[in-house]
Amino acid sequence: MAVFNFDIKRKSYEDALKMTQAALSAGNIEEGKYYLDSATSLCAQLIANCVIEPMKRRYESEYKKLQSLATSLEKGINPFSADRSAPPRTAGGAPKRADGGENPSGELQFFSDKAPTTTLDDVAGLAEVKKQIRLRVLAPLQNPELYSKYMDDAGCRILMYGPPGCGKSFVAEAIAGELKCAYAIINASDLLDKYVGEGPKKVVQIFKEAERFEKCLIFFDELDSLFASRESEDSRHTKDILTTFLTCLSGFHEEKSGCVRVIIGATNRPWALDTALIRGKRFDTHIYVGLPDAEARAFLVRKAFSKNASLLNGDIGEERMVDLLEGYSCADISTILGKMKEKAFERTLANFENGVNSEEPVTDRDMADVMATYRNSVTAESLELFKSFENGEI
Ligand SMILES: Nc1ncnc2c1ncn2[C@@H]1O[C@H](COP(=O)(O)OP(=O)(O)O)[C@@H](O)[C@H]1O
Ligand SMILES: [Mg+2]
Repeated sequence: MAVFNFDIKRKSYEDALKMTQAALSAGNIEEGKYYLDSATSLCAQLIANCVIEPMKRRYESEYKKLQSLATSLEKGINPFSADRSAPPRTAGGAPKRADGGENPSGELQFFSDKAPTTTLDDVAGLAEVKKQIRLRVLAPLQNPELYSKYMDDAGCRILMYGPPGCGKSFVAEAIAGELKCAYAIINASDLLDKYVGEGPKKVVQIFKEAERFEKCLIFFDELDSLFASRESEDSRHTKDILTTFLTCLSGFHEEKSGCVRVIIGATNRPWALDTALIRGKRFDTHIYVGLPDAEARAFLVRKAFSKNASLLNGDIGEERMVDLLEGYSCADISTILGKMKEKAFERTLANFENGVNSEEPVTDRDMADVMATYRNSVTAESLELFKSFENGEI
């Protein structure tokens, strides 16, 4: 099998992006579509082969944007054209807007108005996160009168922190799925711009777009890259963005009844954040999204084999798998189980090629082989850091 050269693919991807933009800016739609197809396929390959989690997230977010660009082009809208008189993206089955009026500036830049299909039932474990969401986000919608007798405003600002691959981004997607609302996923790369002043402008734009919806969710991922402590060297380029963000956050209320706006921030390094975010109550609920417990691991195992549970009937039972997976993140567990299934599939294929009609289950040996070469992405040292952070030591 050919070796995947990440750097070469990335270069081709960036070239394809440039060609797409150039063609569309020149009004060559067909040529633009051709390069867009190529960029989308390269982006998918980068996602599949990327082992650095934040980078992978970035490609995933870019992939979504490429898809939405393709949809626009199919509708005859060319966002790169000088003539921007195209119909606004919120037309048709879009979520209800809070302002009730026409979209004043046309397109939505940051929000997607199609809710994802993921729900909280897809999320393994994380009981505390689910409890907060049910209480503060879903209950006010389901029982508005009762809610208003007890609580002041619906919606919430949650800071999720914890090791990578345990479900911070996944939970955010599930909340938008539960609310069936518009949502924006903002990565650091969406706001960092080589032109000074562009970042803060984009922050203002995000909050302005959010005001258009009665229900919406804004998810700021990789908060530590955006809002590093103002005393640190890292914050040189982001101080202005932080100041604007704090101002927008304070002015952003859920004043109208029936309005539910959720703001979620996520970080793998909460200790690197500016204290204004952590201690200043800007995010009023802090939740540790940690490694999955035994129940959550069992959920992931069952989910991985849900299409064919008989693959679990080998010499390794579900219980032993769940034990051996202790200490791994949900994302690691999915990968490990995927590799085990691949091994069983190879054997099954060999059987079929030899005329034997037998579906092979996963085995103890498969698991041992996969685990022998798999590097856990969550280290004991990083878990110690989270403990120190919770104890207020760092
Ligand atoms: N709690 C969970 N339940 C089910 N799947 C999960 C969970 N956490 C992570 N995953 C899987 O792993 C992938 C990566 O997780 P992600 O939410 O991006 O982690 P984080 O944002 O904490 O780094 C998700 O897309 C999902 O498929
Ligand atoms: Mg994430």
